[in-house]
Amino acid sequence: MEDRKKDGRYGRLYKQLSELVLKSNNTQARMATIIAVLHHKMEYFFWTGYYLLEDGKMTVNSYQGPVACQVLEKNKGVCWAAFNQQETVIVEDVHAFPGHIACDSRSNSEIVVPLKNAEGKIIGVLDVDSSEKAAFTKVDALWLEKILELIHS
Ligand code: SME
Repeated sequence: MEDRKKDGRYGRLYKQLSELVLKSNNTQARMATIIAVLHHKMEYFFWTGYYLLEDGKMTVNSYQGPVACQVLEKNKGVCWAAFNQQETVIVEDVHAFPGHIACDSRSNSEIVVPLKNAEGKIIGVLDVDSSEKAAFTKVDALWLEKILELIHS
C-alpha cells in the first residue's frame, strides 16, 4: 500500500480506536482491541500481536493471525533487537535479517515497535509481519507508535 493511502487509513483507524479504548480502563482489553482492529483493517498485516518480557522470557501475548512462537530465544531476532535498542525496527526482507525467528515461513517483512507500560518503561513489543516484501515504512512506524500510546491514555 502506498504511503498516502496508508496515512489516510491509519488516520481513520486512530479515530475509531480512540473511541473504542475509552470504553475500558483495562490495559489488556485495550491492547487486544488495538490488535483486532489493526489486523482486520490493514490487509497487508499477516500476523499482528505483542511479545512481552515476562520473567526474562519474551512471551507472546494477544495476537491475530497464524499460530506463533510462544517464547522467543533470548537476544535473537527482530523483536529482541527492537526491545534491546529501545526503538522501532523495520525489516524489508526478513530472510536477510541475521537471526530472524521465522514463526511462519509466509512472512516476508516485519515491523517491531517498543511497547511501554504506564510509567514509560519498555516492557515488550508490538510485532507485525506481512507476507509482502518491504510492506512497512516510516508511516507505519509513526502511526503504530501513536496508536500504542492509546493503551495508557
Ligand atoms: N519474527 C519475530 C518473531 C515473532 S513472529 O514474527 C510472530 C522475530 O524475529 O523476533
